Amino acid sequence: MRIAVLGTGTVGQLVAERLGELGHDVVVGTRDVNESLSRVGDESAQGFGDWARSNGRIRVAKLSEAAAGADVVVNATSGEASLAALALAGDANLAGQVLIDVSNPLDFSQGFPPTLFVSDTDSLGEQIQSAFPGARVVKALNTVNMALAVRPQALAGGEHTVFVCGDDETAKATVIALLQDMGHRDVLDLGGISSSRGTEMYLALWTRLMVTLGTGTFNIKVVR
Ligand SMILES: NC(=O)c1ccc[n+]([C@@H]2O[C@H](COP(=O)([O-])OP(=O)(O)OC[C@H]3O[C@@H](n4cnc5c(N)ncnc54)[C@H](OP(=O)(O)O)[C@@H]3O)[C@@H](O)[C@H]2O)c1
Repeated sequence: MRIAVLGTGTVGQLVAERLGELGHDVVVGTRDVNESLSRVGDESAQGFGDWARSNGRIRVAKLSEAAAGADVVVNATSGEASLAALALAGDANLAGQVLIDVSNPLDFSQGFPPTLFVSDTDSLGEQIQSAFPGARVVKALNTVNMALAVRPQALAGGEHTVFVCGDDETAKATVIALLQDMGHRDVLDLGGISSSRGTEMYLALWTRLMVTLGTGTFNIKVVR
C-alpha cells in the first residue's frame, strides 16, 4: 500500500520506518521539507534530517503532496496541531482515505503530567472525523509508547492489547490487518469513533504508569 505518514517527530519516524520495513511505499508529510531535513538531533532524539538520510527509501514531501493518492494516511502530528496539519494535507486529499489517528490531545501548558484539551464528552478522534467527514478515521496505537507499538513482539511475544475504533468497518479491517502485520496479537475493536474518548482519557493513567514504572515500555493486557 502507499502510506502517507504525516509527522516528522519520533512517532512519525518510528511508524514510517516500520511500515517501510513491512514493504509499504511510505512517504512522510511535513509543512516544510527543507526545514525538516535540516533538523539535527540531540542525545534525547534523532533529528528528522539524520533519520531521513538513514532511511533513504522513504520519501519526504509537503503534507498535501504526501496525502494525495495515498491508500492510508497516518496522523502522527502533535495533538494540538493535528487539525491544522490535516487541513494543510487537504480535505480533498483525505476524502475516502483510511486515516489512522495515533495522536493524543495532550496539554503540557501546566507541566507534567499533561491534561487533555478535550475529554469526557468529545475527543480529538471525533474532532478529526467531524472536521474531515470524507475521511474514514480509525483511532489506533495512541495508548502505547510508539517504539513498542510498532514492534509489539518486543514485549510478552506481542500478547498485550491495543485498541481500534472508528465508524467505517472496512477502514477498521484495513487497520487491524496492518497492526497484525506489525506483530499485534490482541487488537480490540471498541466500536465507533466516540470510543476515542476512552483511549485518549487512558493517557491520564498511562503517564502515571510511566512515572511509577520508570519506563514507557509497557502495555496492558485485557484479560477476558
Ligand atoms: N511518543 C509516543 O510514543 C506516542 C505514542 C502514541 C501516540 N503519540 C502521539 O503521536 C503524536 C506525535 O508525537 P511526536 O512526539 O512524534 O511529535 P510531536 O512533537 O507531538 O509533533 C510533531 C509533528 O507535529 C507537527 N506540527 C507541530 N506544530 C504544527 C502546526 N502548528 N501545524 C502543523 N503541524 C504541526 C510537526 O510538523 P512539521 O513536520 O511540519 O514540523 C511534526 O510533524 C502526538 O500526538 C503524540 O501524542 C505519541
